[in-house]
Amino acid sequence: MPRQFFVGGNFKMNPIDRATEASLVGGLNKATLDPTTEVVIAPPAIYLISVKASVRPDVAVSAQNLYPKDSGAFTGEISPKQLVDAGIPWVILGHSERRTIFHESSEFVAQKVRAALDSGLKVILCIGETLQQRESGETGAVNEAQLKPVIAAIKTAEWKNIVIAYEPVWAIGTGKVATSTRAQDTQAEIRAVIRKSVSATVADEVRIIYGGSVTANNCKELATQPDVDGFLVGGACLKPEFANIVNARL
Ligand code: G3H
Repeated sequence: MPRQFFVGGNFKMNPIDRATEASLVGGLNKATLDPTTEVVIAPPAIYLISVKASVRPDVAVSAQNLYPKDSGAFTGEISPKQLVDAGIPWVILGHSERRTIFHESSEFVAQKVRAALDSGLKVILCIGETLQQRESGETGAVNEAQLKPVIAAIKTAEWKNIVIAYEPVWAIGTGKVATSTRAQDTQAEIRAVIRKSVSATVADEVRIIYGGSVTANNCKELATQPDVDGFLVGGACLKPEFANIVNARL
């Protein structure tokens, strides 16, 4: 069965006010979106409930993070159960900004993935190498190392609730998008890791999306690649061109 195209919009710490959030969601609600693409948007935590209430029903909402406990003295954090209670079905985990700025290890990311799945959330799991790692030929090893604790933490059947987002750190917010060949080669390599370490069926079925300076201009070519099953979009998801990216395969 072909893998359903998936486009996520990661608002990061934007918009900065409710009026902008409302106009962003309003624009998306009016846009013509390819009905065969699964679309998920991830606003900041403070806007999750209002976005969920106002966005069109064919667009799902995702958190950008969670803490891997049900409740307790964890000031500033949000639990998987709270996300589920708020009607939020998805969470982004392992984003390079969390790994770098907030020092999240791959083991901690795997704990979060475990907690998310235990509560019934679906996960957009981000992995990717830095420029230095790319230049020293470590891309494959870095991606495999970031996946390894997650592979160990979850059961084969649970991979249906995971989308892998390959986001080379050097391409995030830089305007330096990976060439379609580079994205394809790396994502085929990631799929090969899943084939080797999980199963051939999961490798065939898991969606691997690309993130890093995706725009309306470069998405169509990237979308032609067999192992590019969609995108995780940062900056461009705050603009009307997000609809064009959702429609990359039309
Ligand atoms: O989560 C999204 C990625 O970090 C990509 O961000 O499209 O602004 O490069 P970007």
